[in-house]
Amino acid sequence: MEFQPTELGYLDWSGDALAIGLFEEDVELAGSLAQLDEKLAGTLKELISETDFKGKEGSSAVTRVGAGSPIRKIAVIGLGKSENNPKLDTWRRAAAAAARLAKKQKCKTLGISFPVWNDAPDATAGAVVEGAELALYQDNRFKSESDDRGLPVQRVDLLGLAGTDAAVARAQQIVSGVILARQLVAAPANVVTPVSMAETAQSLAAECGLQLEILELEDCEKLGMGAFLGVAKASDLPPKFIHLTYKPEGTPVRRVAIVGKGLTFDSGGLNIKVAGGSIEMMKVDMAGAAATLGAAKAIGQLKPDVEVHFISAVTENMISGRALHPGDILTASNGKTIEVNNTDAEGRLTLADALVFAEKLGVDAIVDLATLTGACVIALGDDIAGLWSPSDTLAAELSAAAEKAGEKLWRMPLEEKYFEGMKSVVADMKNTGPRPGGSITAAMFLKQFVKQTPWAHLDIAGPVWTDKENGYNSAGATGYGVRTLVHWVL
Ligand code: BES
Ligand code: MN
Ligand code: ZN
Repeated sequence: MEFQPTELGYLDWSGDALAIGLFEEDVELAGSLAQLDEKLAGTLKELISETDFKGKEGSSAVTRVGAGSPIRKIAVIGLGKSENNPKLDTWRRAAAAAARLAKKQKCKTLGISFPVWNDAPDATAGAVVEGAELALYQDNRFKSESDDRGLPVQRVDLLGLAGTDAAVARAQQIVSGVILARQLVAAPANVVTPVSMAETAQSLAAECGLQLEILELEDCEKLGMGAFLGVAKASDLPPKFIHLTYKPEGTPVRRVAIVGKGLTFDSGGLNIKVAGGSIEMMKVDMAGAAATLGAAKAIGQLKPDVEVHFISAVTENMISGRALHPGDILTASNGKTIEVNNTDAEGRLTLADALVFAEKLGVDAIVDLATLTGACVIALGDDIAGLWSPSDTLAAELSAAAEKAGEKLWRMPLEEKYFEGMKSVVADMKNTGPRPGGSITAAMFLKQFVKQTPWAHLDIAGPVWTDKENGYNSAGATGYGVRTLVHWVL
């Protein structure tokens, strides 16, 4: 799909489908909209009244235009009330609706004419590109026959957005990262393994000019990563500790680390997941690592002035004669000892060593992303990730980035008192506390492995997957986190 910003407006454009974004107050069709309606012999007015289109956010309607017209189909996409200052994400969702309609209507060329958001043509164009591309991405890798309906949209003209070519290119680079994350998360655990994740990191390094360091089992042993290796023990596959680095040409204005939980499968270990515990979905347990690699792909192309380290301790949580026993005591690479009272709380064990490694790099900030707890899904639902950070500054930066990205984030408390629930009789701490506040105690556990670097933890267990189409996300992996990370780094 090719995007073409143009100075043409809806009165002059010709092609297969024209999609107009309308606020609720626009449906009366004043001014140039009346002109357009006239040009289309009243089809626009008719469409609006026949479908009861009121311009509500999320609504749309489409019809064909009489023969001899320069456009074949006309679509209206609701943007809500303009006085409510709709968010940029409304434009992403509207573009998704337009692209989906065009595809279904077998339109090869689509003209999108949306009002400019917040006097910012670049942001508007970027949002439209993201929305349309993310909505039309279809994963047919594991189907013998594509069940893709409609025709691929070949060209999208961005009407009235001439001069936004650089923003379009940037949006496409970001989307390429989101799609990589979606592909990694959607692929099952017999395809995406610690070994394949390391290979993906290697191709990224080659493609985007990133530095790559892969720590093998022995390297991790030398660094004393007993928590990570404890989890990895039962797997027949070798663990891989991935460390990709993006370095800008000049002196970096900032140095940061992104750490992603990378469990290519989480059976629970000997505390095996029970039926109804979604064990069959636990291929998604590397979504933090996927967002990390997706962000690496985008950032490697966007080339900001920031040095970024992309880190993931990748393994599977399996059962075998070599598995962790519940009750085992592990020593992490910062010397702290952990009584593993539940082998299903494995993500925090792998992250512990990854966070210690990240802090040793001497970066200015660390952000981790993890499908860490079912408790976070209970607290915030499927659409919202939890954010924990002792730093108000970093929390504000991430919230602002998530807002720009259209990814929902909610700050949660790091309640010191709750850590008492993780006290161990025999070791420095247990890896799980009582059930109440389970996502908070998980965050408190991670906090023990960061000494002084500003750090934030995102629990993304909810939003990394969606069972049904939602805005520009199709059913399946969403690629959650990549866009927030990119906006945070930029
Ligand atoms: N990977 C899971 C969390 C998860 C749940 C991810 C749902 C995606 C969707 C994690 O390793 C886990 O098993 N957490 C346990 C922690 C408990 C043992 C303290 C949980 O949430 O039940
Ligand atoms: Mn688990
Ligand atoms: Zn897990």
